Amino acid sequence: MDSIVVTGGTPLKGKIAIAGAKNAALTLMPATLLSEEPLTLTNAPRLSDIKTMTALLQSLGVEVTSMQDGKVQVLSSHAMTSTTADYEIVRKMRASNLVLGPLLARHHRAVVSLPGGCAIGARPMDIHVTALEAMGAEIELKDGYLHAKAPGGLKGAKVPLRFASVGATENVLMAATLAKGTTVIENAAREPEIVDLAKCLRSMGAQIEGEGTSTITIQGVDRLGAATHPVVTDRIELGTYMLAPVFAGGEVECLGGRLDLVGSFVEKLDAAGVDVTETPDGLKVKRRTDRAKAVDVTTEVFPGFPTDLQAQMMAMLCTAEGTSVLEEKIFENRFMHAPELIRMGADIEVHGGIATVRGVERLKGAPVMATDLRASVSLILAGLAAEGETTVSRIYHLDRGYEHIEEKLSAVGAKIERVSA
Ligand code: UD1
Repeated sequence: MDSIVVTGGTPLKGKIAIAGAKNAALTLMPATLLSEEPLTLTNAPRLSDIKTMTALLQSLGVEVTSMQDGKVQVLSSHAMTSTTADYEIVRKMRASNLVLGPLLARHHRAVVSLPGGCAIGARPMDIHVTALEAMGAEIELKDGYLHAKAPGGLKGAKVPLRFASVGATENVLMAATLAKGTTVIENAAREPEIVDLAKCLRSMGAQIEGEGTSTITIQGVDRLGAATHPVVTDRIELGTYMLAPVFAGGEVECLGGRLDLVGSFVEKLDAAGVDVTETPDGLKVKRRTDRAKAVDVTTEVFPGFPTDLQAQMMAMLCTAEGTSVLEEKIFENRFMHAPELIRMGADIEVHGGIATVRGVERLKGAPVMATDLRASVSLILAGLAAEGETTVSRIYHLDRGYEHIEEKLSAVGAKIERVSA
């Protein structure tokens, strides 16, 4: 199994191009199920999660053509052969559940295995199920699969979500585009990936208003057509690379970066003593002093601080001056990077959903193990600042969410390489 070896201590300089968002692509791809006509996605990221979604869609009979080394994906659902999302694929990735809404909407039935994914919490699907039931779906759980049907099709309804779940908002948004009548999603998630999905669905002919706010209104239409849509910038990859020069020193410009995608994150960086400036091509980042300052961070739904940047932020705060308190409010088991950072010399105490990080002068390189996608990248970032060599093993998690990470970081001067065991 491959591992990544990072040697710390080299300041970074240069530009890193940020890819299209994994989490946007994973909801845009199943949107193809809503139409017989092709959907072309440009600026798609090259990641193993995208391959998993491709395999899932192909298992349903969707034709997927990948062009320009994977940056362009053409999907066509004109000859569907199945409405069952099998456990063998779904267990690899929770986002597989995003086929449920579109399948129900266009085919009036779907059988979808309950998901697996990152081991960062229980991650049930009750919000998706309750919402689709409000639209007339009948859903039962049998043998680990959700068996859903909507005889006569889904109906528009008022759909209040008990929590602003990203996936549930996406499933309902897609389902509502072909439902009869008007659907109003209340307490909808406001993440940029949802805004991107709404834009794409609108290009396909859907009638949607209010995306990016807590109330989304969808007027169902009879059919959706072809569209070409560029995937929005990956704000999590962006935030991750923005942190690289904070760990290693130097200055990095993240091409394609936009402040509106990472507002709450940039506020925390500023408080920690990091300068972020807008350039014509993106965002430039440089720390103001040798050591960052401690800051408290609470993860929240968008526009709050994203849970997907919590591990990276914690790793950065390990060497900040002072004590930081991080509270994880989205997932119940998302501090698995803490014991690995402690192996590198960090001083972290975890009690339930709260981690107290007392900044130390330096981290020391060590062999560490990746436990989930964002935890893995936090260890690589920590390695950039640590004394000596850090070897991160189990990096298959990383390939789910970061394309060509070692190339991107070595291009700005980091000492990083992938080694095959
Ligand atoms: C998406 C992102 C993920 C990110 C998360 C929160 C994708 C592919 N993944 O995941 O990277 O970390 O948003 O920003 O876009 N929940 C329930 N019942 C449900 C659904 C969710 O209790 O039916 C809970 C989950 O267990 C979790 C919280 O709600 O504690 C957030 O989940 P949700 O917003 O649905 O995240 P995902 O869409 O799975």
